[in-house]
Amino acid sequence: MDVVKHVTLIALISSLFRKETPFCYIDTHAGTGYYDLLSASATKTKEYVGGIEKIIHAEHVPALVQRYLECVHHINNRLSSANYAALHYYPGSPMIARHFARPHDRIIACELQPEDCRELKNTFAGDTQVAIHHLDGFLGLKAFLPPHERRGLVLIDPPYEDPDEFSRIAKSLPIALKRWETGIYGIWYPIKEKRQVERFYRSIRQTLSQPILIIELTIYPDLPSHLNGCGMAIINPPWQFEQTMQPVLSWLWKTLAIDQQGGYKAYLLK
Ligand SMILES: C[S@@+](CC[C@H](N)C(=O)[O-])C[C@H]1O[C@@H](n2cnc3c(N)ncnc32)[C@H](O)[C@@H]1O
Repeated sequence: MDVVKHVTLIALISSLFRKETPFCYIDTHAGTGYYDLLSASATKTKEYVGGIEKIIHAEHVPALVQRYLECVHHINNRLSSANYAALHYYPGSPMIARHFARPHDRIIACELQPEDCRELKNTFAGDTQVAIHHLDGFLGLKAFLPPHERRGLVLIDPPYEDPDEFSRIAKSLPIALKRWETGIYGIWYPIKEKRQVERFYRSIRQTLSQPILIIELTIYPDLPSHLNGCGMAIINPPWQFEQTMQPVLSWLWKTLAIDQQGGYKAYLLK
């Protein structure tokens, strides 16, 4: 599911390169920056086997996914002291954004979990383009919007451990958009219960006047209480973003789906 999130993130950041003027990237739930695929927890769940590993071994890779793979390999080689044949590290959203940021772009990242935040601060120690805050990401929306660049992207990627996470996001968005109505916002979510996701769509459609593009990719049919796939709601999507993502989603679905189950969509929310 991280592959879909991070490929979409790269597509969104790439759209900001259409203008030379600087942008600000705000990551409300940033994580630790990168993940050790050889750690006890990663080797136990082996989530990467159904994600990045499938992508690495796939053929006819679209240009956008190639950029993603180059980024993963670049960061992996930089972090890895040994010459691993297999992947050792997987970069998270702030590192991916940092990889693509130009010298005049800026990154703000919030992380609430103290240890994760410490790790994140260590990752970016001495980097003047990145500001890390030990802060609730939803408070970060109030604190950092609008950025002085008036161009950029907000990624909202909470852990969804709290059953109220969807409603917390839906309540925060009108406040954020009131502060910065032209920003691009990408909200990632798991697709477990179809009804829960549809309730979220209705709620954001009712409260926001901006265009909202929905991207969904599922690798299982609609199994109840099961992680069937993930989605991203993109508020103020870049020009022709739907057309950019359709062929990429098609390729990702063919590569990631289990026995060709599930499917993919990209459409404007009405
Ligand atoms: C899904 S992970 C983020 C992954 C990251 N965005 C990436 O793509 O690599 C969610 C993170 O949010 C943190 N978190 C949980 N609640 C938070 C909150 N209210 N504000 C900021 N961070 C929070 C968790 O500690 C966790 O590291």
